[in-house]
Amino acid sequence: MHSNNNFELYEQLEDLEDIPGIRNVPDELLRFPNQNKSRPRQKKQQDETIELVEQENDLNFSYNASKHEKEWLIGSLEDFYRQQWFDDVIRLIKGGGKEASVYQCLANDTISDEYLAAKVYRPRKFRQLRNDSFYREGRLLLDDEGHEIHNGGALHAVQKRTTLGMRLLHTSWIEHEFQTLSMLHQAGADVPTPYVSGNNAILMGYIGWDDLAAPTLNTVNLVKQEAKQVFDRVIHNIELILAHHRIHGDLSAYNILYFEGEIFLIDFPQAIDPDVNRNAYAIFRRDLIRLCEYFQSQSVNCDPVHLAKDLWQKHGFNIKSPIDPRLISPDYNDEL
Ligand SMILES: Nc1ncnc2c1ncn2[C@@H]1O[C@H](COP(=O)(O)OP(=O)(O)OP(=O)(O)O)[C@@H](O)[C@H]1O
Ligand SMILES: [Mg+2]
Repeated sequence: MHSNNNFELYEQLEDLEDIPGIRNVPDELLRFPNQNKSRPRQKKQQDETIELVEQENDLNFSYNASKHEKEWLIGSLEDFYRQQWFDDVIRLIKGGGKEASVYQCLANDTISDEYLAAKVYRPRKFRQLRNDSFYREGRLLLDDEGHEIHNGGALHAVQKRTTLGMRLLHTSWIEHEFQTLSMLHQAGADVPTPYVSGNNAILMGYIGWDDLAAPTLNTVNLVKQEAKQVFDRVIHNIELILAHHRIHGDLSAYNILYFEGEIFLIDFPQAIDPDVNRNAYAIFRRDLIRLCEYFQSQSVNCDPVHLAKDLWQKHGFNIKSPIDPRLISPDYNDEL
């Protein structure tokens, strides 16, 4: 679990260029990459790199990361460390996920939680964001402080998928996860406490024991009676989320943590708003189908297709046909 093998992928990191923040796209960034070639900027970059290497030297975490993983980790978490959100990175909880790796950190004394979970996103080029435009329909483009980006040049860069455009999308994706988590936490949903988001990572409450993170629900076998209680709690959360005009979008037992009888829904970057996404109902239905696969294996009687329809209509949404099922994902199933 704690091996560094997952990080072989990161050998050719492009992440050092990811470190500067993206705040409502300053003009210098839009003129990128030409400006990048000028001498003063190169000099500045050199200085920044030297400074970073010097700073890296005084950042020694208990978690023993490989060289490249360490660069990536420090580049992504250094600001949070210096702002005293946490004092140490203790272990890798899960590496090489499709979006990110998650680490257990020792929280600073000023934080009420003893530990934090740091979700550090993979460098853009290694992310497996299939059909992300499908989830982005109607969504705002957010900068790394969570503000909407209006700048026409930036929006054009995203449309054209230039390097800058991809970088903006990456940041926006992270901010969407953080904002969704914050909104749902405030609404009382069972999600980890969100603390702070940055250019390449978010910090949230850690779910688990001192030496072991909570398992994901797909690895847990429940007795029938508890399975029904957990199922009801998940449905309660789905309804609460829907009442706040959100759909998880990648819900399954893999994205639910189970800890001492409680559940926590995680992994929200692709969450969508049913008011602006024309495929919202198909995505909602798919979430319920995947969820029920697990609960059916735990002897809970559930009919995801009827359940999806009932919940959807109960919350006042209209059922619309999806615009193009193949856009949902390559594994989209016509039966959905
Ligand atoms: N707050 C948390 N506390 C403890 N463990 C967590 C927390 N958040 C995430 N994890 C662990 O990290 C894993 C990956 O997190 P998440 O699902 O958000 O990222 P991901 O990139 O989508 O990964 P995957 O592709 O594995 O789903 C989770 O499956 C879970 O084991
Ligand atoms: Mg996940």
